[in-house]
Amino acid sequence: MSLETDPAALALRAARPTTLCVIGAGYVGLTAAVCLAQLGHRVGCVETDPGRLRAIRAGHVPIEEPGVAELLAAHLASGRLRVTDDVAEGVSGASVAMLCVGTPPTARGDPDLRQIAHAARAAARAATDHLVLVVKSTVPPGSCEALELLVAPERGDVRVTVASNPEFLREGRAVFDFFHPDRVVVGVDPPGSAELVVSLYPAAWPRVVCDRRSAELVKYAANTFLAVKISFANEVAGLCEALGADADQVLHGVGLDARIGAAFLGPGPGFGGSCLPKDVSGFVAVAEAVQHPARMARAAEAVNEDAIVGLVAKIESAVGPLRGVRVGLLGLAFKAGTDDVRHSPGLGLATALAAAGARITAHDPLAVVPQMPGLQFDDPYEAARGAEAVVVTTAWPAYRELDLRRLRREMAGSVVVDAVGVLDGAALSAAGLEWYGVGRGRPLGFHPVVTGPLEWALEGEPASGTAISGSPAGR
Ligand code: UGA
Repeated sequence: MSLETDPAALALRAARPTTLCVIGAGYVGLTAAVCLAQLGHRVGCVETDPGRLRAIRAGHVPIEEPGVAELLAAHLASGRLRVTDDVAEGVSGASVAMLCVGTPPTARGDPDLRQIAHAARAAARAATDHLVLVVKSTVPPGSCEALELLVAPERGDVRVTVASNPEFLREGRAVFDFFHPDRVVVGVDPPGSAELVVSLYPAAWPRVVCDRRSAELVKYAANTFLAVKISFANEVAGLCEALGADADQVLHGVGLDARIGAAFLGPGPGFGGSCLPKDVSGFVAVAEAVQHPARMARAAEAVNEDAIVGLVAKIESAVGPLRGVRVGLLGLAFKAGTDDVRHSPGLGLATALAAAGARITAHDPLAVVPQMPGLQFDDPYEAARGAEAVVVTTAWPAYRELDLRRLRREMAGSVVVDAVGVLDGAALSAAGLEWYGVGRGRPLGFHPVVTGPLEWALEGEPASGTAISGSPAGR
């Protein structure tokens, strides 16, 4: 639902209109800036990249995010949103500065916090009155405290405090998520000083107010749990393949348990994007730093790495040795609805297949990968032309509409690996295609009879006198 069609969101107002500054106009910062203006705040948005700044000032949105362009136009016009490259100008008159800059992973897996340190220092230097620095970027527990110490030499006599208010927006649905949060998390020390940050949001939104370390950890733990769920689904899907069971049915049955829930139980080529992989490795890094084993997070990472290895093995067993084999990839974005290819499973698979000697062609409705010049086509059928195998790696709705008979005619072979489960198995078979998937489709091998139940049958009747009854508790 776009904001335009969501009267409930349009009617929302902040508990208390405030002058605030948002530093960084990436997908978190720009979305937050336009949505905060929509809530009634006066927002100064700081972006130092000249190209990006020019585009935003002209009302062009440099990110693929539904609803942002409309809100940007509305609030550049209403005057509630100003865009500048000057932190002092952005901070002028503001009581809150939101830090929304990048925290890319270092080679060790922990996040690089230099941009956030730089932004915090600049904001503290520009403060003329009590300023609360609100950390929206995902940072390891302890970072807000460290930032407060870091900015102390910059702020002179002005009071500058740091609060945590992690962001839970999903790429491609960020505006919707902003106006429909499951919770607003605010971390402050000392407890009781949260009022200013809490009042930025409508009073009806569910909130968790806690200390800063806990707030910082909510974000890491939430993304890690989502990753654990996906990796668990992929583990179940692998077992389904080995046993000849149907992963869609199994996980549907599992997810209907209200205690478990269906979300993030979709098996596929593994989780990607700029957040889940980074935050799981951040969670592991912070756990390592305090000698905590973090076994679940490590297992989620390991299962995720296996997802690509498993797909390569599946394609190889379907078409034979990969050297020189043409493979058409449908989907390069890390998920449908975005042009983002960071940690994209499709790109990971392309790299692994190329390393095994396969020749890749690809299609994506939005994403463009500069490292694949000449290998990307505007049309999925062209990407499939002459391919021995076609692999669907992003769940774009457009792929559901593919003319499968035409796909078969374009291909040199007949193998389709639908890693994201968007195609109809019966229709693929009817079009003469061999259908493989993750936990679905054609089994690759012979599934031996599971012997346990048979052995029990052969063991005969229970010995006389053996009672068959429930436990005293009836369990
Ligand atoms: C994720 C979280 O969902 C947001 O709450 C969080 O704010 C954001 O990270 C962040 O930290 O900024 P995002 O990375 O945009 O959001 O994407 P998701 O929709 O979570 O998808 C992540 C990956 O998991 C994708 O590769 C997706 O295809 C995969 N996935 C998702 C599955 O493989 N199976 C599923 O069932 C669901």
